[in-house]
Amino acid sequence: MKPQTLSYKEFVEDMLGEGGFVYIARCRKLAEKGYKVINLSIGQPDTPTPDGIIKVAVHSLILEKFTSYTETPGIPELREAIAEYLNERYGSDVSWEEVIVGPGAKAALFLAIAAYVREGDEVLIIEPAYPAYSEIAKVFRAKPVFVSLRFENTNGFRLDIEALVEKITKRTKMIVINNPHNPTGTVLTGKEIDAIVDIARENKLLILADEIYDNFVYDGAFRSLLSYPDWRDWLLYVNGFSKTFSMTGWRLGYLVVDRRASQVLRKLAVNIWGCPTSFVQKAGARALRDHGIRKWVEKLVRRYREMRDLMYEGLQDLYGVEVWKSRGAFYLFPRIKRFLNTVGMGIEEFVEYLIDNYQLIVLPGSVFPDKAGEGYVRFSFSASREEIVEGVKRFREAVEELLSRAK
Ligand SMILES: Cc1ncc(COP(=O)(O)O)c(C=O)c1O
Repeated sequence: MKPQTLSYKEFVEDMLGEGGFVYIARCRKLAEKGYKVINLSIGQPDTPTPDGIIKVAVHSLILEKFTSYTETPGIPELREAIAEYLNERYGSDVSWEEVIVGPGAKAALFLAIAAYVREGDEVLIIEPAYPAYSEIAKVFRAKPVFVSLRFENTNGFRLDIEALVEKITKRTKMIVINNPHNPTGTVLTGKEIDAIVDIARENKLLILADEIYDNFVYDGAFRSLLSYPDWRDWLLYVNGFSKTFSMTGWRLGYLVVDRRASQVLRKLAVNIWGCPTSFVQKAGARALRDHGIRKWVEKLVRRYREMRDLMYEGLQDLYGVEVWKSRGAFYLFPRIKRFLNTVGMGIEEFVEYLIDNYQLIVLPGSVFPDKAGEGYVRFSFSASREEIVEGVKRFREAVEELLSRAK
């Protein structure tokens, strides 16, 4: 009999994982061996979920025993809270029926791409990019087409709108916009967002907007793609609870699409995850509606602004390290090409060196798809003051030691 062959290779073997997740186990193992590890590689707030949110989940689980399936797009209470929250922030007119809740923003991204992208379609992605966009597109045999952000050092990373337009072909289906941006910390200007929306309208393209860092804006204004009155014609909007409310492990995120599409997309959702976790939904509704929790978020963002400044100050005068003070998300993404060339190391080799010799974990830019992150390193400043001071100290020592050896 012919042996059964599994076809996962075709789809999955070349798929990129997500860098930050790789280091979770590594960090735990080093800590178990007694090392004092500083992990600045992962993208999550350093503080637990606020008590007010945890209490609602516990109450709902233990006292109400709210443990059964719910409606596929989520309970109305949560979808109403999401619509109200977005409308208040962005002056939009989202109806609760246009919200589909799922297990994380990542699941919402999957739903959006699975529903709209087909073999041969091209998906425009601004790089360096969060890996999920290209990797999900590839599962559906679409082609990720990358447009690089240009690093201009003191001006940060700039989007070249003309370069974006040049990449549009007859096959282009969708532009993915992650704003504020992981990993560079760029916040696109209102003018840039206007230009992208015009391009989408003119070329009849969809915009998949991932605004999961929308609360983490430190300088200047943020314009949401939901704030355009005709958003229903071109927008698939993704957001979630992981970053804003420090709920990464709870798995709660959502997609907003116009009412008609949401009726169809929930059929796909029911076949993938059925419904979001019941009691987690109650907690999510509280997170959005509770005044005290909003204050908690504001305080967190104020602290991260300080941590950004602290980390920036610590890194900005190192030889061969060009660091720009990011405006959003919670990352610094310095270019360290000159340093690497001087010491004759590749980015991954250097990151391994930091882990082995300094027990400092940062993310090599090479984990992001395509090549745009080569020669960069991502630091997360969602950490305590002590961790940042110690992490920067270790990084400086490593850089100085390697430079002195290279002389
Ligand atoms: C840009 C971006 N989108 C989506 C996610 C995933 O969020 P969630 O935990 O809600 O799946 C992350 C998490 O790192 C992210 O950085």
